[in-house]
Amino acid sequence: MTAYVPPTIGRDLASASNAMSERNRFSLGPASDVAETIDGVAVSELAARFGSPLFVFSERTLRATVRRARAAFRSRYPNTTFAWSYKTNYLGAICRVFHQEGSIAEVVSDFEYEKARSLGVPGREIIFNGPHKSRAILERATAEGAHIQVDNWDELLCLESIAEARGEPVSIALRVWLDAGIRPIWSKFGFALENGEVWRVVQRIAASGGKLVLTGLHTHIGTYILDPRAYRTATEKLVGMFERIHAAFGWTLPFINLGGGFPSRSTLHYTQLPIDEAVPPIEDYAEAICGVLNSLPSGRRPRLFLESGRALVDEAGSLITTVVAVKGGTRGGSPDLAARDVKANLVLGQDSSASLLVDAGVNLLYTGAWYRFDVRPARPAGDVPKSLVKLYGCLCMNIDVLREQVALPPQDVGDHLVLHPVGAYNITQSMQFITYRPAVVLVCEDGEIEVIRERETLEDVTRGERMPAWLQA
Ligand SMILES: Cc1ncc(COP(=O)(O)O)c(C=O)c1O
Repeated sequence: MTAYVPPTIGRDLASASNAMSERNRFSLGPASDVAETIDGVAVSELAARFGSPLFVFSERTLRATVRRARAAFRSRYPNTTFAWSYKTNYLGAICRVFHQEGSIAEVVSDFEYEKARSLGVPGREIIFNGPHKSRAILERATAEGAHIQVDNWDELLCLESIAEARGEPVSIALRVWLDAGIRPIWSKFGFALENGEVWRVVQRIAASGGKLVLTGLHTHIGTYILDPRAYRTATEKLVGMFERIHAAFGWTLPFINLGGGFPSRSTLHYTQLPIDEAVPPIEDYAEAICGVLNSLPSGRRPRLFLESGRALVDEAGSLITTVVAVKGGTRGGSPDLAARDVKANLVLGQDSSASLLVDAGVNLLYTGAWYRFDVRPARPAGDVPKSLVKLYGCLCMNIDVLREQVALPPQDVGDHLVLHPVGAYNITQSMQFITYRPAVVLVCEDGEIEVIRERETLEDVTRGERMPAWLQA
């Protein structure tokens, strides 16, 4: 007679968050959601040739995205010019693609101004924003005909004195902050519209005896703005000021600048809606802005500048990472190899599912604090169900978590995961911390792959260091 074996609750059944997927293979979405290739190039080939982690940009996506945005606006308002927001991604090759597509530059610091000039952008094709512009860079930018968008009174006074010293008028535009219905209101930048501050600046310009010439009004209401109606409101308010200036002084300002802020096809953590419902198409933003501008008399319609960043570059960028360790859960089919004890997990308040450790950290993915990157395996998993895993970055820091929970089929060391979209802000905000920053490649329209930034080396990281003589061995 066989001994009675009491029923047991295994580790998997104890994993509340995975219980559903263990019973229903479709519960976490189809298993076929893979990223084997980027623009037709195998992810495994890219990682083998250029190393991992690796940022990969698609030239085709870059061009298609900016062309669609331009068409959305120009078909409604032909006098539209895009200015590439350098801070969103100032890799030279990326900027050049946008410049080739007809975008001028939008910069926010002396460094960005110099970078745009070094890429051959003439001063008159640079919009110069930012709360801090040194006198030296303002002198250069005004001499080169850049569109200075003044942020504050001190900058205005500085420009007045530059005009005086030069003995010729300086053209300026005003950065304006206003209530477009978006919270929080970005009140750090520019002059307030609603409390009369903008009007006081305009009066001061009018009284400057020709030293300053007002050429435009600008507002940037925020980033990842999901409601196009906010742009209608912002445009109405800027146009209201544009008309008031015309009525009072007879000036027809050459341009109005609605800034950036259009969303990329990315979702925030815990967004519930599918992407197509959460993120309106660019055409809706064009409709909101152009509808208002077209209400102006046809002979007095200003040029429309846009400084869209995120919406134009985010989707073109992916990050290839490699799994370097599998923690917890069952590894290699053996429940004992790496499984955390269920009781230990209960104490920790964590479930017993696996965690994956990949070779990229939050130092490369700053925007991951807000945005939920899509994580797709590069290897098809066939019919194997997904389960929820935690995605750890490789930094020796507890906060280095790329995704708290992501549904993936089983992964093993050496498997590649592709994070997307990561093209906006991550390159420019990535920091040298613990690891070297990876190479960046561009998959070109003709299928060629070009390195557009080399992987960092020890020499790059330590170039600026100096060793005091008494510490030299
Ligand atoms: C003045 C200005 N213009 C344009 C942008 C680009 O914004 P986004 O990437 O949201 O389009 C920014 C970014 O914050 C900005 O500060």
